Amino acid sequence: MSRFDHLILDHVRAMPTYVPGRSPRQAEAESGVPCIKMASNENPFGPSPLAVEAMQAAAANVNWYPEIDNSDLRAAIAVRHGIDPTNVLVTCGSSQMLHIVARTILAPGLNAITADRSFIVYPIVCMAVGADLIRVPMRDNAFNLGAILDAVTHETRAILIANPNNPTGSMLSPADITRFLDEVPDQVVVVLDEAYAEFAEAFAQQRGVSYSRSFDYVREGRNVVVLRTFSKAQGLAAARIGYAVAPAGLIQYFMRVKTVFSVSSIAEAGALAALGDFAHVEKTTQNNLRGAEYLTRSLAELGLTALPTWTNFLYVDLGEPASPFAKRLEGEGVIVRPMTGNWNAPTAIRVTIGTPEQNAVFLGAMKKVLTSAAVR
Ligand SMILES: Cc1ncc(COP(=O)(O)O)c(C=O)c1O
Repeated sequence: MSRFDHLILDHVRAMPTYVPGRSPRQAEAESGVPCIKMASNENPFGPSPLAVEAMQAAAANVNWYPEIDNSDLRAAIAVRHGIDPTNVLVTCGSSQMLHIVARTILAPGLNAITADRSFIVYPIVCMAVGADLIRVPMRDNAFNLGAILDAVTHETRAILIANPNNPTGSMLSPADITRFLDEVPDQVVVVLDEAYAEFAEAFAQQRGVSYSRSFDYVREGRNVVVLRTFSKAQGLAAARIGYAVAPAGLIQYFMRVKTVFSVSSIAEAGALAALGDFAHVEKTTQNNLRGAEYLTRSLAELGLTALPTWTNFLYVDLGEPASPFAKRLEGEGVIVRPMTGNWNAPTAIRVTIGTPEQNAVFLGAMKKVLTSAAVR
């Protein structure tokens, strides 16, 4: 409680505070041991080196405001996906784009729909504009599209789908999504949040299936907003840059709502270079394929089941409260994310797949924590 509470809108007062993955500095200060962070699905190899070089060069010009419409990057993204630049909006991470969607099409009395275990920014962006978020139970740890359709009301304006999903790592097939879009009423915009697209593509190739038709939907002019980010496979999480791809008629409204100059020229230069750095993405996704297999098998040897993943993290239900478990792991030098609070899975942890060395440290720490729990 503070003396300012009465000044605050009711729906803002009710908002939870976003709880990020703990930083090594925080964890080390408490545990007294050096920690590696495997809590926020960042790139364990660091940023694209080409992006670092481009950002260093761009830093010399930060006295100038950035170019407002990010035309070079939009053009490059358009070429990459076979769309028009008018279909692209560059934003300060996909988190900002989620706020833009909410501010453009949601309001008190309207609602959005998502799954009951999905990205925790979804409830925040809805609550920030006073809209309701309907959270539909999952089926087999994946979005239940049939149940989502059943939950649609006259007041529904958005459906938020993370594909693959954070935190369960599940993926919906293009056929399932196409069927679903055919059924969604016209007053609803479907957000396909593809933050982990590069990892999903690599898994899909390995498993002989296809990942996504999202850009086709935009070309077909459907009510779809595709979100992509440079925070994950390209390793630019702190640069804060991502983009939306949607029909031009929607993009022009989103553009009005976006905070002007919120994408820095440094971030744009980094993203442009990272877009062409195929080697870094390939190294990252190939390491991830191997790491997913190795960690899943090794966790099974410890008696734990990781859900099948299409992403750069694993979701493991421990069958015991995850927060104290995560704290004990920090005592062994590894930070993971307990799926408490709005994650809605208080007995599960999510661990980012790391380098081979980080994965080995994580498994060593898991063994110690599990053994000490068995002794106690
Ligand atoms: C599903 C999903 N969407 C969006 C984001 C946010 O990415 P950004 O860093 O671009 O805001 C994340 C980050 O963890 C995510 O998991």
